[in-house]
Amino acid sequence: AIKAKQNGVESNIPELKLNGFVGFDSLPYQFQFNVLCVGETGMGKTTLIESLFNMKVDFEPCNNELRTVELRTKICEVSEGGVRVKLRIVETAGYGDQLDKDKSAKIIVDYINEQFEAYLKEELKVRRHLAYYDDTRIHVALYFISPTGHGLKALDIVTMKELSKRVNVIPVIAKSDTACKDELVRFKQKIMSEIKSHNIDVYQFPVDDETVRKDNAGLNSLLPFAVVGSTDFVTKEDGRLVRARRYPWGIVEVENEEHCDFVKLREAMLRINEDSLRERTHNILYERYRRERLREMKMKDGDAGFKMVEAFQLRQKEFMEERQKKEEQYNKEFLARVAKKESELKHREEALNVRIRGINESYEGEAKKIEDSINALLDEKAKLENARNSGKKQRK
Ligand code: GTP
Repeated sequence: AIKAKQNGVESNIPELKLNGFVGFDSLPYQFQFNVLCVGETGMGKTTLIESLFNMKVDFEPCNNELRTVELRTKICEVSEGGVRVKLRIVETAGYGDQLDKDKSAKIIVDYINEQFEAYLKEELKVRRHLAYYDDTRIHVALYFISPTGHGLKALDIVTMKELSKRVNVIPVIAKSDTACKDELVRFKQKIMSEIKSHNIDVYQFPVDDETVRKDNAGLNSLLPFAVVGSTDFVTKEDGRLVRARRYPWGIVEVENEEHCDFVKLREAMLRINEDSLRERTHNILYERYRRERLREMKMKDGDAGFKMVEAFQLRQKEFMEERQKKEEQYNKEFLARVAKKESELKHREEALNVRIRGINESYEGEAKKIEDSINALLDEKAKLENARNSGKKQRK
């Protein structure tokens, strides 16, 4: 059963039909795989992708009026045999159509670097979520070489050279059904010798692992793969339905190894070396980008430790300064509050003193009055006693 989701939006689900075996179920886990197709307009990029993944991809055909190269992305989620694959297909549109062709390579290189940069930013976050990160780094770039040329064009050389520094480049001869067999053999040899002489570091299938050494050595000798793509199916005499291109003289079967290298490319890319492509992307190509970027940021090896100590000391200094400022502020506020309280108390004390003084004064007045009246009474008493004594004497 095929389940498909496009750009995470249910309503945009393209109708994906895996009409045959692709090989995902030989892979052990759910994986994300990002493929970039670089090639001139009409070179058969979309058709090859549809053939490789057995699904319908509705990229709009390029209309030759683009002023610069554009990169168009389609995201699909496909599953086969219980293995889910998040597929990101990126195609160039308008590549090779412009007059200033050298800009084309730059636009594609910039795109690849942007994906590395996004990953680097996630990696440098304090709270990084790499396990859930939507990794957009390109794992493989299929470079489509025209079957009609006599070798590589200048644009092919410039672009492949730049791309191969940043991405796993697999060169393919597009529409190889348009060239005859002997021509193809010579063409392949010519292309590989040009690739070597221009020091273009195209992807070599690894031969260091015993289990895949023989297969990969064979695949390396087939480079560049001569491919054919088709969206049509033909019923053969034996009743089998095959993906093929029909011609007046017969049919070219996409999945027939006698007819082209399509099956070899699919095996090489998806069945045998999918992990190696992803590993090389992360361990070598991304690592190279990361090192360059960190060097640009003036970080050297071992800096991480120093930087951490420095950062800690700086943070501690900031913390101490902040604390001192807070202490000073607190002291200032405390002294102001004490001064306010003191002045309040002083006012209340003065008011109290005024009241006490008033009370004292009125008390003193009362006491004086009492004393005066006592004195008056004592005077009166003395007068009365004198009068009584003088009366007694007269009677005698
Ligand atoms: P743009 O998106 O416009 O750049 O084109 P493209 O590179 O995606 O090419 P597309 O797959 O749309 O194919 C362009 C034309 O080439 C179509 O008519 C295809 O049928 C034809 N075509 C695709 N693959 C092959 C092939 O392997 N052999 C031959 N002879 N024709 C092919």
